[in-house]
Amino acid sequence: MKKIGVLTSGGDSPGMNAAVRAVVRKAIYHDMEVYGVYQGYQGLMEGEFKPLKLGDVGDIIQRGGTMLHSARCVEFKEHESQLQAIERMRAQGIEGLVVIGGDGSYRGALSLSEKGFPAIGVPGTIDNDIRGTDYTIGFDTALNTVIESIDKIRDTATSHDRTFIIEVMGRDAGDIALWAGLAGGAETILVPEVTTNIDTMIERLQRGKERGKRHSIIVVAEGVMSGQELQKLLLEKGIDTRVSVLGHIQRGGSPTARDRVLASMMGAHAVELLMKDIGGRAVGIRNQAVVDYELREVFETEHHLDEDMFKLSKELSI
Ligand code: ADP
Ligand code: F6P
Repeated sequence: MKKIGVLTSGGDSPGMNAAVRAVVRKAIYHDMEVYGVYQGYQGLMEGEFKPLKLGDVGDIIQRGGTMLHSARCVEFKEHESQLQAIERMRAQGIEGLVVIGGDGSYRGALSLSEKGFPAIGVPGTIDNDIRGTDYTIGFDTALNTVIESIDKIRDTATSHDRTFIIEVMGRDAGDIALWAGLAGGAETILVPEVTTNIDTMIERLQRGKERGKRHSIIVVAEGVMSGQELQKLLLEKGIDTRVSVLGHIQRGGSPTARDRVLASMMGAHAVELLMKDIGGRAVGIRNQAVVDYELREVFETEHHLDEDMFKLSKELSI
């Protein structure tokens, strides 16, 4: 391949820019041309392409968000829209596409590949919920943002002997809640993958109080229930709490070194595959090594929470 495209799609994540930079620089290094596709699949359908040169991706490695912008485009799930996108790319001479996004974006990449247009998935999402890779780009930065917030909330929780509920992102995946809860020393962590028994949770909080704990932190993933809903349930049982919803603050900010390195390695690997005319693959990292595997494997199994880590979080927060 001599001409490829790159887009970012779905919820943005810190490090997407570093991945775009890696794709562009690696491709140019190997004498390929790169087109940036703006606004994710929306721009792919509408032909929003712009050639990217070395300088176009300068000064972005440290920036959150995505210079290519992102979109959620329901229309792209349609067969006709995907064919239109392929036509647009072929008209421009683009022979392969790097899709940086979450599992929804991967479904789009798989559909393109199944229709004969080579696409490669690079995992860009703060959720860390893509099967086949140990980490996704943006997860580490989001975690650090959450931990910074937990630490600050803990200061005021300690001063006022209060119980705080901190709601974090994760509709279907509890990785942010679990990792941040463990790293932030939360007393209770609620994740979508594990059924929550409110009474057991209250008993734990009360046992802690009897032992002299004067404040508590509860981290709840948005997919379990909202912070406010949990606050209401606890109030019904006589427990007064304060709630902080971290929201989209988790999606922004300068990527951590780890996310930048991950993005650089994965973006470059995606180009290596396209250089060999290989499509339909997902790029990941396993045991510190960059790997690639069939895109369809992402959808063959469920995302699993690290059960040992969940157990450990309970053991350490008795
Ligand atoms: P993420 O990629 O972060 O999981 P979404 O689930 O919103 O975010 O997916 C991003 C985009 O990927 C969607 O807006 C849509 O354009 C595309 N997409 C999602 N599901 C499919 C699908 N089944 N087929 C084709 N494209 C899809
Ligand atoms: O997939 C990333 C994510 O941030 C999820 O954690 C969250 O549930 C969702 O996107 C929020 O989406 P939006 O920005 O469209 O409200």
